Amino acid sequence: MLDRLEREINYLRISVTDRCNLRCRYCMPPEGIFLKEHRDILSFEEIEKIVRIGAELGIRKIRLTGGEPLIRRNLPDLVYKISRIEGIDDVAITTNGILFPALAAPLKEAGLNRVNISLDTLQKDRYHYITRGGDITAAFKALETALAEGMEPVKVNTVLIKGFNDDEILDFCRLAFDQPLHIRFIEFMPVGEVKYWHRESMVRNSDVLSTVSKHYVLKPGKISRGNGPAKYFVLEGGKGSIGFISPMSNHFCSECNRLRLTADGKLRACLYGGKEQDLKEALRNNQPTEEIKRIFTETLLSKPERHAMGEKPWGTRDRKMFQIGG
Ligand code: 5AD
Ligand code: SF4
Repeated sequence: MLDRLEREINYLRISVTDRCNLRCRYCMPPEGIFLKEHRDILSFEEIEKIVRIGAELGIRKIRLTGGEPLIRRNLPDLVYKISRIEGIDDVAITTNGILFPALAAPLKEAGLNRVNISLDTLQKDRYHYITRGGDITAAFKALETALAEGMEPVKVNTVLIKGFNDDEILDFCRLAFDQPLHIRFIEFMPVGEVKYWHRESMVRNSDVLSTVSKHYVLKPGKISRGNGPAKYFVLEGGKGSIGFISPMSNHFCSECNRLRLTADGKLRACLYGGKEQDLKEALRNNQPTEEIKRIFTETLLSKPERHAMGEKPWGTRDRKMFQIGG
């Protein structure tokens, strides 16, 4: 599938729930936002149907996200269904890890290839603070489990926020040096709880790179299985690597290969913009496969050339990050 700019689109991110068992300050208000009724959320059968049709059009990789995907009941059943669809060669998940140790074995057995775990700090008190109550030992346990299960490459998502965790950059590098982990520093974006975002709180990845370069010899690297916009560097002599995801300082939109499906069944062209089209209604109205394909194509053609983050006023944001799936 090619879009207007000849970008090859082969990756679908699917949010399976907008709920979460944490309340990261930059993502959700303390009370959470529970908007969706059960019937508004796609069933596993509906997701399976959408992926099957997507695969016919050229989707090859699936990532399940949330909210927190692991709180969706019986998630391994969904992984099982979609990993067996012809054409799908990679099924991954992005999770905060809290429930991962208990689910890792059934998920792997169901066909999950790999996992990205969100971890913004290595300090117990800070973790408790930023997640509003989360227990860092559970997140550490998730990393350990993913490594023990051989779900390589195990990636860690770290959002740097000035004055909160930017003094931990080298601690994260140490972790990537000691363990075969791939730590990805993500620039803080004005999505989610935008009250919490300030331009000054963003740490530019070019600054992170120069800090790290003073302490480690970095070699540009490539991760064997990856499909995202991260730029990786191997730490010489170490086991893992660090990566940079720089949506704010460096538009990577020209390499974008993805579409997104929200938990309530809307297909989206971009995290930050583009059209949203209702696949759930189309399915529930028994529209033929051709109509679903037409919606895929129309969404694809609405994919913007680049996002306007940092340009548009935030008030125009229609949905929260946890509703779209990160
Ligand atoms: N800026 C950057 N990353 C964010 N994430 C959530 N909100 C933001 C934001 N405003 C990250 C989470 C998680 C991933 C899905 O997206 O920390 O790792
Ligand atoms: Fe949950 Fe992830 Fe949002 Fe934190 S950032 S509240 S873990 S969805």
